[in-house]
Amino acid sequence: MNRSELEANARAMVAPGRGILAADESTGTIKKRFDAIKVENTEENRRAYREMLFAAPGIAEHISGVIMYDETLRQKTRAGVPFAELLAKQGIVPGIKVDAGAKPLAGFPGETITEGLDGLRERLAEYYKLGARFAKWRAVIDIGAGIPTRFAIDANAHALARYASLCQEANIAPIVEPEVLMDGDHTLARCEEVTDGVLDSVFGQLFEHRILLEGMVLKPNMVISGKKGPKRASAAEVAEATLRCLKRHVPPAVPGIAFLSGGQSEAEATEHLSLMNQAPGLPWALTFSYGRALQESALKAWAGRTESLGAGQKAFLHRARLNGLAQRGKYTASLEAA
Ligand code: 13P
Repeated sequence: MNRSELEANARAMVAPGRGILAADESTGTIKKRFDAIKVENTEENRRAYREMLFAAPGIAEHISGVIMYDETLRQKTRAGVPFAELLAKQGIVPGIKVDAGAKPLAGFPGETITEGLDGLRERLAEYYKLGARFAKWRAVIDIGAGIPTRFAIDANAHALARYASLCQEANIAPIVEPEVLMDGDHTLARCEEVTDGVLDSVFGQLFEHRILLEGMVLKPNMVISGKKGPKRASAAEVAEATLRCLKRHVPPAVPGIAFLSGGQSEAEATEHLSLMNQAPGLPWALTFSYGRALQESALKAWAGRTESLGAGQKAFLHRARLNGLAQRGKYTASLEAA
């Protein structure tokens, strides 16, 4: 394990005014995004779409790292430059999703366990050779009647820590992502209670597994009310509860926290991040690692048309710039129209 390499990459991923683009949708997930804009899910369309994002002029100003999917890491630009190289040349850290997805947890109806540990050591060695310098593993915790159970939380935290340990052995900085879903009708208080328990378990396991906290990035959900709830919590409430929860669990040794957007609208995700970054004296960098909240407008502007690649890049850059400002606590809703 090369501590200084891991620490340098983790710090670069959460550098001031910048954040991470999650473009690691599996072939099945990107189909859902393409279906919405009536684009056929072919390997060439996936490649062309990712090239549009990664080659958008000037993205490096706001984007510090990109999470790719296995197929994407092996793809090239039209001109034949591997994506990892295109990104690294711009000073953007190339990353790779390495989990194999959340599968039903036997004996625990409604709960999942994330798979992908078998053979991970060998895959990480190959990914490093292909240029990846950080990785991502997502654990999924759903809130519902009687769930999550402590057992499912601990099983997922254990797998996250096993993954993180293998990453660090391979000199790949792990993004540790325990996502508490916002899909239900639960209150913000319930989300906070569950997120509290999840982060407690995750950091306990990271400690037991001897993880170098300085060489990782946490990717949590925000503490937020369920999407189907009767009354959504305000942005100020989300920011306050999220910071309270993180301060209780995340040691200052962790260089940065990069939130997932989890189904928030683009503007909501940006506003929440900006509000949190207005708090004084935060012990870690707070930034974004958004998928949907960075890509929604860009997907629509592009809509699969070659002649709209520029419009797609423009929409993506706009979102990246607003989130870069949010990282500095300088976003205002009036900038949306600009
Ligand atoms: P969203 O921001 O769309 O939630 O995606 C981020 C991500 O990488 C989820 O694993």
